[in-house]
Amino acid sequence: MAEKTLVIIKPDAVYRGFSGKIINRFEEVGFSIAAMKFQKVSEKQAVEHYKEHEGRDYYKRLMNFLLSGPVIVMVLEGPDVITRIRKMTGKTIATERESGTVRGDYSVNNLYNLIHSSDSSESSAREISIFFKPEEILEYETATKKYWFF
Ligand code: PPS
Repeated sequence: MAEKTLVIIKPDAVYRGFSGKIINRFEEVGFSIAAMKFQKVSEKQAVEHYKEHEGRDYYKRLMNFLLSGPVIVMVLEGPDVITRIRKMTGKTIATERESGTVRGDYSVNNLYNLIHSSDSSESSAREISIFFKPEEILEYETATKKYWFF
């Protein structure tokens, strides 16, 4: 079954000009874009998005960073997209990252780690609803959807 996941291309990726490269990786695999916005995250959205991390020592840094500049928020769709995009994202801690992942290839730092991606179907449903209204999630045919299943 096709799933949906939320990806945020964070301010460091936008400032460094990596947005296109990152989106291209997801498209090349065959996932489709169901929704996308270029925006500044509101304080309300950031609090809601990172509510599980409130109280952690890095919480304030994480919030300030997300609010520090424009981001691209997007919903990606495809088979096993939640797990696949988490793998393509790479690990949080810089020393654990593998080459070939977005973070492993483009980031040397724990905080400035270029993208967020949902870690479960519960999180993706919750996170998508923070940034998108149901009518903003588009259903359409793409050339790659016919290769999703056999
Ligand atoms: S956890 O414990 O599994 O929930 O943590 P994780 O999913 O790896 O990280 C949750 C978000 O917190 C950020 N994070 C950090 N930022 C800065 N410094 C440190 N040490 C740190 N540890 C975790 C991490 O980037 C996650 O943010 P997102 O936006 O989801 O990537």
